[in-house]
Amino acid sequence: MRVVVTGASRGIGAAVAEALRARGDEVFGVSRRGGPNVLAADVATPEGRAAIVAAAGPLDALVQAAGLVRYEAVGAIEAASIDAQVGTNFVGPMLLAQALAPTLRARRGAVVNVASTLAARPAPLTAVYAATKAAMIAWTRVFAAELAPEVRVNAVAPGVVDTEMVRQVRHEPGAPVPTNAAEAIEAQLDFLRGLHPLGRLGSPEDVAAAVLYLLDAPWVTGSVLTVDGGLTAL
Ligand SMILES: NC(=O)c1ccc[n+]([C@@H]2O[C@H](COP(=O)([O-])OP(=O)(O)OC[C@H]3O[C@@H](n4cnc5c(N)ncnc54)[C@H](OP(=O)(O)O)[C@@H]3O)[C@@H](O)[C@H]2O)c1
Repeated sequence: MRVVVTGASRGIGAAVAEALRARGDEVFGVSRRGGPNVLAADVATPEGRAAIVAAAGPLDALVQAAGLVRYEAVGAIEAASIDAQVGTNFVGPMLLAQALAPTLRARRGAVVNVASTLAARPAPLTAVYAATKAAMIAWTRVFAAELAPEVRVNAVAPGVVDTEMVRQVRHEPGAPVPTNAAEAIEAQLDFLRGLHPLGRLGSPEDVAAAVLYLLDAPWVTGSVLTVDGGLTAL
């Protein structure tokens, strides 16, 4: 199977790429900065998407793990930040899936989008990000309906996964600015861990296993698979 994986330079995308390669699939990785086996292309720009389509060739699957979060309180949300998150999490992935639909149709392929539990379960400071992931889930279902029966289109909704994305200080309005960022991040991670009944944060490999399931599941389309250690069961 030949698979494009966006966000393949680290975190969840890197784990998906590794799991696919380990079972013999051919992976074509993408991220803005690129890296070993990873093409430098920005999914939020027309040029970046055109470069991916040109380089991808005939394709069996697309996994969209590129993503961007800015933790901002109401009152501090800026238009430029909305544009960046909408471009990377919503518009870019939708247009990339559309651009690759002909080759995916021809090979009876599959798309898996990495959404988030935040699409449905709110957390402070994530208004823009949560909205982009809710949008991603909405178009996942519409694409599934329109591209059936040739292409299956699904999403995963992870809870908190221990990657660089969550190792940023989240500063609540009115709270003192932490003097030690590393300690503040560890305290945040402890708090977030406690929200998950299974008692730990997710690993990139936990999510990769769900992505591989959806890539292979022949009678599953338009689904959102929650992989969240029980976070949203509460
Ligand atoms: N970590 C979590 O708790 C969590 C929970 C739910 C959902 N998710 C979602 O899971 C996906 C992966 O997250 P992660 O935690 O693995 O994040 P991460 O460690 O920050 O990795 C993000 C990846 O996306 C790439 N990227 C970012 N913007 C891009 C763009 N415009 N075009 C191309 N590549 C881009 C990054 O590489 P460059 O910097 O080189 O571009 C990197 O490879 C994201 O969609 C995220 O929203 C994460």
